[in-house]
Amino acid sequence: MTKNTVTITDNATGKQVELPVVEGTMGASAIDVRSLNKELGLFTYDPGFQSTASCQSAITYIDGDKGVLLYRGYPIEQLAAHSSYLEVCYLLVYGELPSPKQLEEFQAVILSHTMLHEGLRRFYGGFRHDAHPMAIMVGIVGALSAFYHDSTDVTDPSHREVSAHRLIAKMPTIAAASYKYSIGQPFIYPDNNLGYVENYLRMMFAVPTSAYEINPLFVKAMELILILHADHEQNASTSTVRLSSSSGTNPFASIAAGIACLWGPAHGGANESVIRMLDEIESPAEIPKYIARAKDKNDPFRLMGFGHRIYKNYDPRAKIIRQMCHDLLKELGSENQPQFETALELERIALEDDYFVAKKLYPNVDFYSGLILRAMGIPLNTFTVIFAMARTVGWIAQWMEMMDDPEQKIGRPRQVYTGNLPRDYPGAKKKK
Ligand code: CMC
Repeated sequence: MTKNTVTITDNATGKQVELPVVEGTMGASAIDVRSLNKELGLFTYDPGFQSTASCQSAITYIDGDKGVLLYRGYPIEQLAAHSSYLEVCYLLVYGELPSPKQLEEFQAVILSHTMLHEGLRRFYGGFRHDAHPMAIMVGIVGALSAFYHDSTDVTDPSHREVSAHRLIAKMPTIAAASYKYSIGQPFIYPDNNLGYVENYLRMMFAVPTSAYEINPLFVKAMELILILHADHEQNASTSTVRLSSSSGTNPFASIAAGIACLWGPAHGGANESVIRMLDEIESPAEIPKYIARAKDKNDPFRLMGFGHRIYKNYDPRAKIIRQMCHDLLKELGSENQPQFETALELERIALEDDYFVAKKLYPNVDFYSGLILRAMGIPLNTFTVIFAMARTVGWIAQWMEMMDDPEQKIGRPRQVYTGNLPRDYPGAKKKK
C-alpha cells in the first residue's frame, strides 16, 4: 500500500528524487529507498539499523511506547493466559490459531520428530566436557543439515515444512543433551507420552536410576517463558537468520547462525547477567550503592534487566512474567529468598527513582526470567539455551515468510569506504 511520498534533495547537485512510502496495517511507515542509488548515486547510512525496516512482515507487532506485543494480531497477554507453547508455534508458523483437530495433528507430528539420529548423539562426545552449552547448540544444530538431507531443498515447500517440524521438535532434545553432557550424566531419550514442556524438563532433570516427578508449577513457568520468547520481530538473531537464509542456505545452517547471534550478552545473555548482578549485590542494603553506580556517567555499570531498545514503557512480557516469578519463588521458599528480596527491592527503588523514571528504564522480561530459571535449578550457562529453544519457532516463521516473499533478494548491504586511496605495492611498477 503506497499513498505518501518523500522527496529527497541532494544539496550538492540539486538533484531530487521522489520516493514512495510503504505503509503497513499499523505502526510506522517506511521510505522505500530502492531507487535512491540509481537516481542519486547515494546509499543510506544506518549502523545498527535504527531507522531501517529490512522487510515487510505479518508475524509480530511491537509498539514500544505503548508496551504492546502481538503475535499474528493476538495480544501476548491473552496468549500467555489462554494458549500453550505448541499452539503459539502453530499460530506463528501457519498464521492462524489451530482448530482442536489441527492442534492435535500438529502435536502428533512434532512428537514424531523428537528423537535425534544416533550418529548425531555421538557428536556430543567430540566436545570438551566443559564446553559452553551454547557452543554445543551452534555445532549440533548446524550439523542437523548433515543428517536430514530429505528436508534441505529450500525451494520445495514440503521440505521447508518438514525441516520446520524437525527443528521445533528436536530443539528440547538437543538443549537437554547439551546440559546433560556438560554435567556428565547420561542423555535421557524423549518420552512421547509427555507434553512438549514436560518432555524437556524430564530430559533435563531425570536420571535413569530413579523416577522423576514433574513439578506442575515448573511446567507452567517454562511454558510461559517459551511463549513470551517465541518471537520478537526483526531483532538481531532473527535478522541473522533472514540474512543467512537469503543466500538459499538450508534452515538448519541459518538457525545455527541465529543461535550464534543470540549467544551474545547484548541479546540473549541478559537474564544471565541479572543473576550475576544480584549475586554481586548480595543484600538489599547494598542496593543504593549500585543505583548510584548505574547513574554515574563515568561508571560503565548498568542495572541489568532494566531498559529496552524498543520498549520505552513497561515491557509487556515483564508484566506477565512478574506474577509467575512471585508465585514460583513463594512456593519454593527459602533457598532463593535472599536473591528474590534483593530483586524486589531493586525493582521498587528503580521504579521510583527519578533517573530511571525520566529515562523510562523499566524492568524487562530478563529481569524476571533469570530469577525463575535459577529457582527451577537451571544453571546460568543454560539460560540462553532455553531462549534459543523458545525463539526457534520465531526464526522458522520469519524464514518461511521470507521464502514466500516475492520481493526477497539475497541480503547485501553496502558501505561507505574510509580506507586508503589506491597505492602501489613496494617495488611494483606503476600502471600507465
Ligand atoms: N542502567 C542504567 N542506565 C541505563 C540503563 C541501565 N540498565 N539502560 C539505559 N540506561 C541509560 C543510558 O546510560 C542512557 O543514558 P544517557 O541518555 O544519559 O546517555 C539512556 O539510559 C539510554 O540508554 P541507551 O543505551 O541509549 O538505550 P538503548 O535503547 O540503546 O539500550 C539496552 C537498551 C537494553 C541495551 C539498555 O537499556 C541496557 O543496557 N540494559 C541493561 C541490559 C539488559 O537488561 N538487556 C536486556 C534487554 S531485553 C533483551 C530482549 O528483548 O531480547
